[in-house]
Amino acid sequence: MIEITPMNEDNYKAVAAIEAACFSQPWSEKTFFEELSNPNAHTYLALDSGEAAGFLSVWEICGEVSINNIAVLGKHRRKGIARALLENMFNDLKESESVTLEVRRSNAAAIALYETFGFEKVGERKNFYSQPAEDAVLMTRKL
Ligand SMILES: CC(C)(COP(=O)(O)OP(=O)(O)OC[C@H]1O[C@@H](n2cnc3c(N)ncnc32)[C@H](O)[C@@H]1OP(=O)(O)O)[C@@H](O)C(=O)NCCC(=O)NCCS
Repeated sequence: MIEITPMNEDNYKAVAAIEAACFSQPWSEKTFFEELSNPNAHTYLALDSGEAAGFLSVWEICGEVSINNIAVLGKHRRKGIARALLENMFNDLKESESVTLEVRRSNAAAIALYETFGFEKVGERKNFYSQPAEDAVLMTRKL
């Protein structure tokens, strides 16, 4: 069973551990802790049968949502967890006007995920990423 819960003081380390397992330049535990007191930040943890499996981090500023990161641990992938995280966010932030994100050009899984939610490619950012260096694709969905 998949459950989505807000990140809090009890589970932020689990969120940081998922981030560390999935990205080459992860945000630290301290950064996630600081997000707890950022009024613009919304971070959601996904539990798969009670086990921390994935998370979604966004900022919402003046009606514009920007996705910082979404990740699901390898053994929990292709079970609809990322989809559940995004559906939960769209429901939670339904007053917003648009959602934007950057994604590595080679990240076919994430691009496919975003396209199923109606995100469209609206631009590119050259050499946006390092380790390894790569361009970002900019995607937006109007709400
Ligand atoms: C991208 C990621 C978050 C997807 O998580 P997930 O929980 O496995 O995704 P879901 O099971 O909810 O998939 C929803 C849909 O997205 C698409 N999708 C997800 N993974 C895919 C893959 N590997 N290949 C193609 N399409 C994929 C499919 O359309 C899928 O629907 P389907 O399973 O019915 O075909 C996960 O692969 C991940 O954590 N990757 C590493 C971190 C990352 O790259 N994050 C994105 C940063 S921008």
